[in-house]
Amino acid sequence: MRTHYCGLIDESLIGQTVTLCGWVNKIRLQAHVAFVDLRDHEGLAQVVIERENAGGFAVASEIGNEYCLRVTGTLRKRIAVNDKLKTGTVELLAETVEILNAAKDLPFALHENPNEDMRMTYRYLDLRRPEMQAMIRKRIRLVQVLRRYLDERGFQDVETPILTKATPEGARDYLVPSRVHPGQFYALPQSPQLFKQILMVAGFDRYYQIARCFRDEDLRADRQPEFTQLDLEFAFVEEKDVQDFVEDLIRHVFRQVQGVELEATFPRMSWIEAMRRFGSDKPDLRIALELVDVADALKHLEFKVFAGPANDPAGRVAALRVPGGSTLSRKDIDGLTGYASRYGAKGLAWLKVEDRAKGRDGINSPVAKFLDDIALDGVLTATAAQTGDIVFFGAGAWKTVSDFMGAVRLKVARDRGLVEDSWKPLWVTDFPMFEYASEEQRYVALHHPFTAPKIDDIADLRAHAATAVSRGYDMVLNGNEIGGGSIRIHRPDMQSAVFELLGIGAEEAEAKFGFLLKALKFGAPPHGGIAFGVDRIAALMAGTESIRDVIAFPKTTSAQDLMTDAPSPIAAAQLKELHVLVTHGKRETGNGER
Ligand code: AMO
Ligand code: AMP
Repeated sequence: MRTHYCGLIDESLIGQTVTLCGWVNKIRLQAHVAFVDLRDHEGLAQVVIERENAGGFAVASEIGNEYCLRVTGTLRKRIAVNDKLKTGTVELLAETVEILNAAKDLPFALHENPNEDMRMTYRYLDLRRPEMQAMIRKRIRLVQVLRRYLDERGFQDVETPILTKATPEGARDYLVPSRVHPGQFYALPQSPQLFKQILMVAGFDRYYQIARCFRDEDLRADRQPEFTQLDLEFAFVEEKDVQDFVEDLIRHVFRQVQGVELEATFPRMSWIEAMRRFGSDKPDLRIALELVDVADALKHLEFKVFAGPANDPAGRVAALRVPGGSTLSRKDIDGLTGYASRYGAKGLAWLKVEDRAKGRDGINSPVAKFLDDIALDGVLTATAAQTGDIVFFGAGAWKTVSDFMGAVRLKVARDRGLVEDSWKPLWVTDFPMFEYASEEQRYVALHHPFTAPKIDDIADLRAHAATAVSRGYDMVLNGNEIGGGSIRIHRPDMQSAVFELLGIGAEEAEAKFGFLLKALKFGAPPHGGIAFGVDRIAALMAGTESIRDVIAFPKTTSAQDLMTDAPSPIAAAQLKELHVLVTHGKRETGNGER
């Protein structure tokens, strides 16, 4: 249909007959000439239709934006060169102009920033926008480079089932009813976790898969109900083997796809250190601000809000110094306090240091009256506060304070331009094995129930479950968890013990994971692995906040596909066939024949 791509024509073609196909990006119709910016997936070309070309000019007067055209003509040098355009030195003088398809009036102008619902409903138009094309293609390139790297290193790309049994990763399952087994359901995999472990038992040694995962959980900018992992598993390895290999892999893809050279060795930080210093298990190291524990300076106070948590082993009082922050207004501070409360803060105390040399008299703070000189000086010294700074501090339960002070750290840094423009990867290691879920009154696995504990002895693990540390590790980049993995349990007795500690009784363990326990009994090798969030890495590379921008057909935050209108009601006959009785919500009417 065409001889060239719009975006690839250049001066070497001057004088030649060229046929282009594409969409009308813009048309300027003048008395004697029409200029059409024709766009295809390589870029834009200027097409000129002169009045003398009566047929062409007649077509030009009919067409509008996003019409689909085929134009043949002679390529010529442009008089008014457009430096901003790759093809800006040439133009196509049209001889024939053919409308391949008309376009209705657009629901939004492609060069404007359309609203989110419109973008999702008319995703094909949204995707025509050059910035969307660039982001999706960045993802395609990322996946190409990942695959090539792993293929060249002998990794086996094995597909694992989508219709399967629940694989717990901490979210709810998406379920699929079975027609032939009434009342029984498949679960869509939250990850290929158990299959990849079983592939190690099966002797595949090195596995990878670009795997779709399904999780019914609360959605955010970095979470979709279906998303893609680069899933990896290795037999006969320890932590360092996996980490070193995937560090090289990540460095390679950033070099190839992004032209960025990441650090030669990623720093490693224990979970506890990350929580203490940054109030987060995925610290953004582009921000220099750090939390400081100031409980020791406040233990002796009468004021219970601070003294309570300061004296409680399960409490925390953490301070954050913001250099130059005394310029923050009351409104700024109220804004931050409101922000902190979303993360569970009951209040956010602050001290403005107007003159450090003047001691108490140089402090402006609504809580100064609750602090004696020892406490005040203790906080200022611990945080190394100086004239012109503000010190925030939060008190309460350890986890809550870490969370909200970590959130305040990020917010202040973003608002005040304190985020360095760089790439800061790190490993977070030594996660607690278990987390106590107070609602359920039982332990839950912080990673997943197949992660090995550092303690190798079952009796020891039972005795120290609350403080046990796992062999899990996360890779974090600029405050995003881009990958998570672990060394797995490969002994059936240890796996049973961990299930038991998680409150999964022998019977339930057998029903849910019997196949794994059985497989581990047949000479399962020590093994471990990791999975990376492909969408998250692509979003970081594309410089977008939301992974929706790097997924061609994403879901909204309420897990809907506005283009296809999924999920949608099902015909009564189909429900009957599936032995499903709908008790809530919409039901499709009619006889169900579709
Ligand atoms: P985990 O649950 O940590 O580990 O997931 C691995 C990585 O997948 C990405 N990710 C997501 N991306 C988009 N939307 C989501 N809803 C979402 N959930 C997770 C994150 C995360 O780091 N089976 C284990 C891996 C292993 O142990 O090898 C697992 O799934 O970037
Ligand atoms: P209140 O006695 O609740 O009015 O609080 C007095 C001051 O302490 C206010 O400035 C609050 O913002 C602050 N404050 C209250 N609770 C906390 C907390 N948990 N952490 C930090 N500051 C707090």
